[in-house]
Amino acid sequence: MSMDKQPRMNRTGMNLKPGESHEMIDGAMKYPPSSGGDGFVLLQERAVYIGQGEPIGSIPLPLTPRGAVETVKGVATGKQPLIFADRLGERLAFERSGTRLYQGFLGKVMSADTPKGSVSAQEVEEILEDEHRHFLLLRRAIEMTGGDPTAVTPAADVAAVQSMGLVQVLSDPRTTVDQCLCALLTAELADNDGWELLIALADGLGHKDLVSEFEEAFANEERHLMLVRSWVQDFAMSEAGITRKSAAKPTRARGTTKGTTTSTTKRTTRSQT
Ligand SMILES: [Fe+2]
Ligand SMILES: [Fe+2]
Repeated sequence: MSMDKQPRMNRTGMNLKPGESHEMIDGAMKYPPSSGGDGFVLLQERAVYIGQGEPIGSIPLPLTPRGAVETVKGVATGKQPLIFADRLGERLAFERSGTRLYQGFLGKVMSADTPKGSVSAQEVEEILEDEHRHFLLLRRAIEMTGGDPTAVTPAADVAAVQSMGLVQVLSDPRTTVDQCLCALLTAELADNDGWELLIALADGLGHKDLVSEFEEAFANEERHLMLVRSWVQDFAMSEAGITRKSAAKPTRARGTTKGTTTSTTKRTTRSQT
């Protein structure tokens, strides 16, 4: 599905009928807000609700004796292992949504008249497999640290809300491949930063065994981001009739697990120990 070559009449702009715009302004003036106040009063009102509001969920305590001991030991040294549990839950929720996003996208790509040399269904399937593998990795990591992968942590709850708009874009039958790619770009940008943070937390809390596995997932995510970025640009340039100078396409690095590349991103947040 490509952008409609013969756009239908768009009637959303007021300047389409400048002579009648005064009627819309008159109407707005005729029916003002039902209560007084301004933006500052609104902020004050919101502050009351913020002050009274309960937090979004709670971080579940470890279920296993080992997890409980690790948490107590961490707290005794001034660290908060539960923050790691919260973020593990967040990434789990995100990777679950990511898998669904790419399942939806694969359907779009396979049913669309995609311009040659652009998105390949095979590469989309590879990303889909990566996202699902990351989900399984996180489930195992949560179990290893004594957590319950079925529990919704506060950060997971917020991540699910954030993803709602992206899921809507991908599942809407009217959206085009390039419109879906813009939604996927948003997801991949957040995914990259999310994994980087998780690596820093795992490293700082001494989960050395998880760090290397998380770094492999992060390398996958870097490749996803590069691919999606290049597809977004390919589509926009192609739709605009502009010939794009050839750009290097991310490839799988030799000697790495399927879907991984050599990470070049500086992890400034990681501890140096
Ligand atoms: Fe991901
Ligand atoms: Fe990804």
